[in-house]
Amino acid sequence: MFTKDTLTGKNILVTGGGSGLGKAMALKFAELGANVAICGRSQDKLDKTAEELKAFGNKVATYSVDVRDYEAVGEMFDKLSEELGEINGLVNNAAGNFLSASEDLSPNAFNSVVGIVLNGTFNCTQQFGKRLIDAGSPGSVINIVTTYTETGSAFVLPSACAKAGVLAMTNSLAYEWGEYNIRLNSIAPGPFPTKGAWSRLMPDPKVEERYKALIPLKRYGEHVELANLAAFLMSDLSAYMTGENVVIDGGERLKSGQFNFITQAAPRSQLKKMFQMMKPGGK
Ligand code: HXC
Repeated sequence: MFTKDTLTGKNILVTGGGSGLGKAMALKFAELGANVAICGRSQDKLDKTAEELKAFGNKVATYSVDVRDYEAVGEMFDKLSEELGEINGLVNNAAGNFLSASEDLSPNAFNSVVGIVLNGTFNCTQQFGKRLIDAGSPGSVINIVTTYTETGSAFVLPSACAKAGVLAMTNSLAYEWGEYNIRLNSIAPGPFPTKGAWSRLMPDPKVEERYKALIPLKRYGEHVELANLAAFLMSDLSAYMTGENVVIDGGERLKSGQFNFITQAAPRSQLKKMFQMMKPGGK
């Protein structure tokens, strides 16, 4: 469905684009014809990824910033617009997260994650949106949320609170900025391992095996699968979509179905024999 010019004319900023899923999305956007900017806290990582992005032949820019700093984010948009042209696509991907019992969190630990995820998304989205509104230009925002945005989750309280706020922001602005033709959608990725996330969120291999068993498709997501979805939502192929949250998780979020646990109780062939015996007159 994509061609090499699907994103031509888009100047897209990916926050946290130097590594992990942000990098995968940035590469896909560049492959499909976009000019791409990436920002993050480590200039070293940004520089390495920029070299890969340049291989696609479009404009590339980097900017070292902490998205928690509102003024610095504003300066970033001005600078990147000079380099790439008006920024008309934004992916709020930069995030912070770690496992902790909630009673052990310090206020600063809570604020750090909420600052990056919720305030950072506000800072970038508002600085992005107000420039487009002043110019009368359309735009598209993708917010990366999580599958626990609505349910909450043990041991990641700051992230759960912040991502729920980001989902509320997505829906609020999708309505409010619809008349400016600025679209906002979100993506809730399930398990897409990255070094940054897995080193903080996956305690040990045994836990990981139990976790994997609960994913209906029995595998993790490939980064390119997420990148393809982001490319679709960023492009004009999805021009009538706004305020939508798309889950991409191999079905993992459905694990709480009441009788789903039976899939773990025995191999499928054995289960089928048991079901047969439970039938009236079955043996
Ligand atoms: C408890 C912790 C902690 C931990 C840090 N803190 N790590 N508390 N357990 N593991 C506390 C510190 O003690 C400090 O509080 C406060 O948090 C701030 O820590 P700093 O390191 O000074 O802050 P900062 O450099 O801003 O780091 C922010 C961070 C860090 C969020 C804490 O982890 C980070 O930079 N993360 C970025 C990358 C990342 O997290 N990627 C994963 C995203 S995955 P005190 O009180 O001591 O000062 C994701 C998707 C989830 O979000 C879905 C997956 C399926």
